[in-house]
Amino acid sequence: MKSAAVALPATDFAAHPFFGPLDRRPSRYRGPHRLSHHGWLNFVERLERREEVSAVLAAVATSRRVLDVGGGTGELTRAVAARVERCVTVEPHARRVEVLQAPDGSAQAPDVPRTGGIEVLPGHAEALPFPDASFDAVLACWVLPYAEDPDRAVREMARVCDRSAPGGRVVLIGGAPDNELVSLLNEVCVPLAGEPHDHQGHLLADAVRTLSGLGFTDISLHRTEAALHFSEPDLEERITAAAALLTDFWYEGHPRAAEMREALRPALHRHFALRPYAIGDQGIVLVAV
Ligand SMILES: C[S@@+](CC[C@H](N)C(=O)[O-])C[C@H]1O[C@@H](n2cnc3c(N)ncnc32)[C@H](O)[C@@H]1O
Repeated sequence: MKSAAVALPATDFAAHPFFGPLDRRPSRYRGPHRLSHHGWLNFVERLERREEVSAVLAAVATSRRVLDVGGGTGELTRAVAARVERCVTVEPHARRVEVLQAPDGSAQAPDVPRTGGIEVLPGHAEALPFPDASFDAVLACWVLPYAEDPDRAVREMARVCDRSAPGGRVVLIGGAPDNELVSLLNEVCVPLAGEPHDHQGHLLADAVRTLSGLGFTDISLHRTEAALHFSEPDLEERITAAAALLTDFWYEGHPRAAEMREALRPALHRHFALRPYAIGDQGIVLVAV
């Protein structure tokens, strides 16, 4: 699948291959994943996502006031804040809020500029604490699968977006259909947890439907490559590290977590035979104007 940007009328989007796999699209939202803080920190430490950061910076190039919903530990938020007049993030997780508020920006990713210019508010996407049209660009990167009510979150994002501003837009990032991390979790951990299959494309397709109904009819999609890097020279050590990271990401403390780690080993053997030192975290960047 190529990393090309495409732009189509919103009505043509539901069946777009970037929102696949089409044969596994669920009829309703499976509910939020529980993102463990420890799992997230391990994830960010191994993540390289230059292409994704560049795509987000390009999307907000003409925006002055930016809201980054669910800023996490702020790696992406800081990159945006360095380039815009005002950058605000709303984040519900107390420990991530602490990291975001730390004066030295004590999150990982030392190559990201630290501006200290981020306004951090605890809160949820589903009830954004701002008047209508408060921001030019409103971003939510890898947030919808963690929200209780993704549709309400998207409606709130549209409400606080000033679509008459030159850089007025909603920007969402979710997993590409061939996202290697999500595929491994779906293959091994999700069934052991007895949960419904994770499908990132259906959340983006639903968001397009909602946004186009609200008047955001100019939609573009851009596929990005990103990856978690596992540089351990010994294959078994690498597999142990990857199995722990994948399990802890969504299932830290789950009663079947130990079983998940074991069950991931053969899948990771197969994965690393093809791609020895990385697991892809391919994304779709959706810009709605
Ligand atoms: C996978 S992380 C992504 C963080 C950041 N956007 C990034 O790309 O680095 C998802 C973030 O969304 C936050 N989140 C979960 N539910 C949310 C909600 N209802 N509203 C806003 N943020 C939420 C989580 O606490 C977490 O920090």
